[in-house]
Amino acid sequence: MSSAPTKIHTVDKEGKEITTVGFNRFGFDSEVNLEALRALYLRAHYSNAGPNGKSAQNSSDEDGTYQSNSIYNKETGGISYTTLTRFPPVKLLAPSERKRVLVTGGAGFVGSHLVDRLMLLGHEVTVLDNFFTGSKTTVSHWVGHPNFELVRHDVVEPFMIECDQIYHLACPASPPHYQYNPVKTVKTSFMGTLNMLGLAKRTKARFLITSTSEVYGDPEVHPQHEEYWGHVNPIGIRACYDEGKRVAETLTYGYQRQDKVDVRVARIFNTYGPRMNPYDGRVVSNFIVQALKGEDMTVYGDGKQTRSFQYVHDLIDGLIALMNSDESRPVNIGNGDEFTIIEFAELVREIVEKVQDEAGIKRTRSVKIIHKDMPKDDPKQRRPDTTRAKETLKWQPRWSVRMGLEEMVRYYKAKMEEGNL
Ligand SMILES: NC(=O)c1ccc[n+]([C@@H]2O[C@H](COP(=O)([O-])OP(=O)(O)OC[C@H]3O[C@@H](n4cnc5c(N)ncnc54)[C@H](O)[C@@H]3O)[C@@H](O)[C@H]2O)c1
Repeated sequence: MSSAPTKIHTVDKEGKEITTVGFNRFGFDSEVNLEALRALYLRAHYSNAGPNGKSAQNSSDEDGTYQSNSIYNKETGGISYTTLTRFPPVKLLAPSERKRVLVTGGAGFVGSHLVDRLMLLGHEVTVLDNFFTGSKTTVSHWVGHPNFELVRHDVVEPFMIECDQIYHLACPASPPHYQYNPVKTVKTSFMGTLNMLGLAKRTKARFLITSTSEVYGDPEVHPQHEEYWGHVNPIGIRACYDEGKRVAETLTYGYQRQDKVDVRVARIFNTYGPRMNPYDGRVVSNFIVQALKGEDMTVYGDGKQTRSFQYVHDLIDGLIALMNSDESRPVNIGNGDEFTIIEFAELVREIVEKVQDEAGIKRTRSVKIIHKDMPKDDPKQRRPDTTRAKETLKWQPRWSVRMGLEEMVRYYKAKMEEGNL
């Protein structure tokens, strides 16, 4: 059974201890305690039944993790779900400071971290999600809270609500998911964005879309700055996502010019962290899961292609800063520390071994790195130029890849121990 989170020592790129994430900028305070956030994701989802059929864990809100204490019985294969008796404490904001925030795709990987942050800060949050790739479990610790609403809704259909800010994230983000139904992916990007922009126009809410570095395609400019128009194959297998996001940006600026909608465009580069779907085919989750299971790690091609990876807390800092700033041009949000895929695989293997050694886990074999053919249209190089974010948002990533990976390995390890991976 997985235990409650142990105290983890985390330092930023300059070696300073990280105890909080966020900052007070542009009149919006986004700072929260890191341990308070960790209590929401770095813990077991359920406990296993003891010999008497009862959970060996105490009621979890007493130990500060604020989770329902659902109990899994291995013998019967049954799980009995429990509900929270107490919610995680949130900041008490004056009504004038409290924003009504709509987060589409809020049950997904990035969305759920944004929801945790906004909820802890004391805002009113409504999540719209069709649960295509997201899951209720990512936000279940807020269900029933007076500041929170979870609505099953597909953004290709219009939706009406009163709100002050819209974070529009709804869209599958990993290649196997967005390629599963490419027509639906384009529809989600186009119609979903059209509907949410229509809502922003009607309510005069500020609108932020999570666009992507994929709008640069297989770039001829390195690193990529926001003025670069990209090099995208419009009919390739990734086009449903890349072109979908490009047209979503076109729509966003159309509404800005035509209807004076207050818009923000974040171009997000590869992001990783807890709650990422372990089987979504993205390189970070692939490597960690393979290494934790003692399987060989698969590198596509010769592994010399480079990637940069950003930890999810840095992304949430950037998104909140952008939403509350005056910057309406596209802004790259990513970590520029570049690794070849081979270097990255080696780092993941080293960290997995470190975390296993700390926990006294014996490895049955040493994990090897093997090579397979490169998938079609896979970009060879991708690295953000984040000068604009630095100048206008005063934002730069704080988390080193090593620190973020350690957290993510601990998260997947906990899931593995509870038999959930
Ligand atoms: N994670 C990254 O590295 C990354 C990089 C660039 C851009 N982004 C963007 O960030 C956003 C979130 O990505 P993520 O990594 O959290 O992906 P995710 O797949 O975990 O989350 C997407 C969420 O949107 C929901 N969704 C999908 N289609 C929907 C629809 N038609 N109606 C309602 N809900 C729908 C899913 O159920 C899921 O909860 C996406 O817009 C993605 O394009 C992510």
